[in-house]
Amino acid sequence: MGLAPVISFLGKLFEIFMLVTRQSLKSSEPIAGITLLHEAQFSIWLEQQPTRVRSWVLLHGFCGERNTLLMIPSEQGALELVVFGLGEQQAQSKVSLWDAASLVDRLPEGSYQLVTELSNTALNQFVLGWQYGQYRFDQYKQKPEQKVRRLVLENNVDTTYLQSIQQACSLARDLINTPANELTPQVLVQRAIGVANTYGADVQRYSGDDVLTAGFPTVHAVGRAAVAPPELIDFSWGNADDPKVTLVGKGVCFDSGGLDIKPASGMLLMKKDMGGAACVLALAQLIMQAKLPVRLRVIIPAVENAISGNAFRPGDVIKTRAGLSVEIGNTDAEGRLILCDALALADADAPDLLIDMATLTGAARVALGPEIPALFTQDTQLATELMSVGAREVDPLWHLPLWAGYDDELSSKIADLNNVSASGFSGAIIGGLFLQRFVSKAKQWVHLDLYGWNSKERPGRPVGAEPQGVRALFEYLQQRFGKQA
Ligand code: BES
Ligand code: MN
Ligand code: ZN
Repeated sequence: MGLAPVISFLGKLFEIFMLVTRQSLKSSEPIAGITLLHEAQFSIWLEQQPTRVRSWVLLHGFCGERNTLLMIPSEQGALELVVFGLGEQQAQSKVSLWDAASLVDRLPEGSYQLVTELSNTALNQFVLGWQYGQYRFDQYKQKPEQKVRRLVLENNVDTTYLQSIQQACSLARDLINTPANELTPQVLVQRAIGVANTYGADVQRYSGDDVLTAGFPTVHAVGRAAVAPPELIDFSWGNADDPKVTLVGKGVCFDSGGLDIKPASGMLLMKKDMGGAACVLALAQLIMQAKLPVRLRVIIPAVENAISGNAFRPGDVIKTRAGLSVEIGNTDAEGRLILCDALALADADAPDLLIDMATLTGAARVALGPEIPALFTQDTQLATELMSVGAREVDPLWHLPLWAGYDDELSSKIADLNNVSASGFSGAIIGGLFLQRFVSKAKQWVHLDLYGWNSKERPGRPVGAEPQGVRALFEYLQQRFGKQA
């Protein structure tokens, strides 16, 4: 295990120090104020400021433009006030976590407090962003940046809840960012067991050939060529009488494409191909920490899609756990293969809600770009609800159809189905339709095809892991199953 637990402990301490309540603060400590300003509020605000502040603001040309920031010194030269521009006042320019992330990213170390009064939702977003924006993945650097900007909060703000979201998302981000030479299927599963054990979940784990003998032939076929053996973890938590919520995550620790090998450009980011598993773990941790009254089950098949003499091949036929035979049209469509056996296991006990999360297709990215996970479900009302929760949480999701008219494209001449379609059209939908063949008993099923990554550098949002869908799904589950706050 080595350093990992130590690093994760230090990480937790770091996160706890980012938020402090007024009570626990030494009175001598200097605290700078933070004012958030829309352009429309700017001139009124400016008039109310002392001359010194007014001239400083005018001198620097600050006028509340979106994402602009001005630090204003006190007469003694200490940082007294930070003003941050929110731009024009539109519905979209309410404070979001990305505003706060971008703000905190540019601040020097120290303690801060909000001067602007925010609604509860906006304050939650702000605090989340405050923590988000300080995330760094720098454990491989000789000189990691360790700058703590603390936010001083009123005593009535529920920091435990906000910190649990931060911790879960940091866990997912760390897992996604960790390179595949370290995050092997075994390590991913160990991290999952760590989460499960923390909350006293029942764990089943299958490794190597046991994956095959326990009845997960597709997981084994995809993972067997790698030096690190395939794994599957299945853990359950909560009261057996509560509604059954089952989460399944794609845990491809590295996707070379297998024998239908990816080009270099396509392979470059494929350490993140376990992003679905990371998101599912984060969500599971949130559910267990909040003690949501559900019967939670988490299933993660973890493999490396590698090449060697015993790799599965294009043209192979694999008999899946569900009994359906699959002809391999392309070994690079491996995610749906490992998921189909995991979904068959999940579906067998007829969960009330079955959710899978996966970095399944490049086609979903062509359709929606890197920021919006594609959401698939036959339940249109559920889709609408999830989309609106996502919009509110600034964790967007977009419903795409499981178009029945394309289902026949999965046909195979020699097997029950092929893992790819011949046409090459509508790849994200085809991925969803393939998975759908393995779900029949679950009362509701949702498939999220996500990217899990920030592809452009933005303040507070460095290029790297992004656990998409986690906050939206957690909020939805809380609303649906939670003890009413
Ligand atoms: N992990 C990839 C999908 C992916 C690629 C997600 C790039 C995000 C960015 C998946 O295993 C894959 O390779 N899918 C193929 C499927 C194809 C062979 C039908 C794809 O999308 O090209
Ligand atoms: Mn692939
Ligand atoms: Zn993949």
